[in-house]
Amino acid sequence: MKKRVFSGIQPSGHLHIGNYLGSIRNWVRDLDSRDNIFCVVDQHAITVDYDPSELRANVRELVGLYLACGLDPDKCNLFVQSHIPEHTELAWLLTCVTPMGWLERMTQFKDKVGSKRERVGTGLFTYPTLMAADILLYQSHEVPVGDDQKQHVELTRDIAERFNHKFGEVFVVPEPVIPEVGARIMGFDDPTVKMSKSAEGQHHSVALLDDLKKARKTIMRAVTDSGRDIVFDPERAGLYNLLSVYQALTGQSRDEIATHFEGKGYGDLKKEVAEAVIAEIEPIQARYRELTADPSHIDGVLAQSVANLRPIVDQTMDAVRRAMGHR
Ligand code: AMP
Ligand code: TRP
Repeated sequence: MKKRVFSGIQPSGHLHIGNYLGSIRNWVRDLDSRDNIFCVVDQHAITVDYDPSELRANVRELVGLYLACGLDPDKCNLFVQSHIPEHTELAWLLTCVTPMGWLERMTQFKDKVGSKRERVGTGLFTYPTLMAADILLYQSHEVPVGDDQKQHVELTRDIAERFNHKFGEVFVVPEPVIPEVGARIMGFDDPTVKMSKSAEGQHHSVALLDDLKKARKTIMRAVTDSGRDIVFDPERAGLYNLLSVYQALTGQSRDEIATHFEGKGYGDLKKEVAEAVIAEIEPIQARYRELTADPSHIDGVLAQSVANLRPIVDQTMDAVRRAMGHR
């Protein structure tokens, strides 16, 4: 039996190479050895201010990118969260077994809420229970994500264990799977902050659908330091980030990379990083244009996956409702 994998991305902006290296690329690599479920989590994207027509467009774009990056619909199920209403039903049930203190410890919530406690929706606070519902609904074994989501997957484990202890063994307890390289790509304009979809700067990130000239420019302008030698040193954050992107894309070892760049300068490194990034995203953009030319193909893929997943959803929800005393 293959292990079941579940993961998702929020349709909340343009997908960047941090998302790609931290998540999608690893999903694609392991397609053949896993039973795969990938979701566009549109109900997570409404936990902050948003525009409904932009959300609709972002969902289409993200599904198109999933396919263009190589998530072959013959090898995985690929769907939009709100098309399976049991995600929110299960989220409520799990909210009732999740202590407030556990949610209060989530660092992403603390970072996002800042001084806006009176303004943000409660969904931003309870969001990890929706994420737990996504994962547990499918009895998933593995959750491949970037470093920033590890805490939420660990919370999911705690919620599953608490539920199983209280109501009987219903859920598989899942494991986070974090890549060794590329789990936390930093901003090119500021290597002390994580690359993010919502950052303001023109040259903060490279999006998968960025104009290639702009992508090259962003990398050539990446903030580094006044050093000269090219070595993996986490203290030199800008250089370390460029080297990590290079390592993730080329698959070479750190020693091979250090030898390759011996005697060369930061300019040479940036040029080669830009080449590697463009070599990766150019074919994705071409496939994206082909795939999105026929929206009915994408609709067909989404509907088929929802139909494929129905029996698993019914089975889990039946067990949950019985265990909790609703049936
Ligand atoms: P999000 O855009 O927050 O929905 O994230 C989608 C996926 O990309 C999750 O698995 C994140 O952990 C991952 N991710 C987000 N930002 C980064 C980053 N800067 N570096 C690596 N992975 C990331
Ligand atoms: N919270 C994740 C993020 O912001 C997205 C997400 C929602 C997710 N549900 C999930 C990731 C289930 C993995 C599994 O990146």
